[in-house]
Amino acid sequence: MGHSEHHAPHEPATAHGNEHDQGWRGMVRYLSHARSLWRSEVNEAVVQRLDVRPGERVVDIGAGVGAGTVVAAGRGAHVLAVEPTPYMRRTLGLRRLAQAGRGRIEIVDGAAEATGVASSSVDAAWAVNSMHHWTTPEVAYGELARILRPGGRVLLVDEDFDDPSHPDHEAFAERHSGDHHHFHMVDPADVARGLRQAGLDVDSAGKDQIAGSPAFIIAATKPDAEPAD
Ligand SMILES: C[S@@+](CC[C@H](N)C(=O)[O-])C[C@H]1O[C@@H](n2cnc3c(N)ncnc32)[C@H](O)[C@@H]1O
Repeated sequence: MGHSEHHAPHEPATAHGNEHDQGWRGMVRYLSHARSLWRSEVNEAVVQRLDVRPGERVVDIGAGVGAGTVVAAGRGAHVLAVEPTPYMRRTLGLRRLAQAGRGRIEIVDGAAEATGVASSSVDAAWAVNSMHHWTTPEVAYGELARILRPGGRVLLVDEDFDDPSHPDHEAFAERHSGDHHHFHMVDPADVARGLRQAGLDVDSAGKDQIAGSPAFIIAATKPDAEPAD
């Protein structure tokens, strides 16, 4: 019998066909093969670059099993781990139990397009290897602008596994031969345009290196509120 899945209204369409949309067997295979989902230098570098500080309220968008979430919570921030895939949320829930900073990790059923996070409540937000899943990016940019407080900062990073200089290029190509899981659909110029339209200041956008990996990286800030006259 076929496996059926129910998606909450905010959940993305599965037309892109990544493994973790293909039932629990695919999910287990995905989690066990992809070691970098658990701990990744790119996530560590993102949290570092955002300068996440103790007491800050931060959002990991498309948190997966929490590679960035646990790092930020370890630094003393309160982390909202927004994740649309139930299996990922459950796995992160189990992982959280083993974290010293577990009281600072909140797992949220949401997506980039509908985070469920309060307006102007967030000091910093990031997404690692999640952007290429966003089905309506322009909605996600508006959502980022909504949840950030004035002065709040955002860093969006998708590693370019299609680039032969990426350390995991060959492993990735092997794992994904025959499917449509490509990261080149993220165009930093488009992302920058969308973020500006949503009212954010774009600090940089382009292809760069992060933690030794080529990636599409977009950094932006929410402008401070206009002084009332
Ligand atoms: C490759 S994983 C990356 C997870 C984590 N950020 C990391 O770096 O390990 C991509 C994640 O994006 C999530 N995702 C899919 N569609 C999304 C959406 N529309 N908004 C936010 N996250 C989404 C997936 O469920 C998955 O957990």
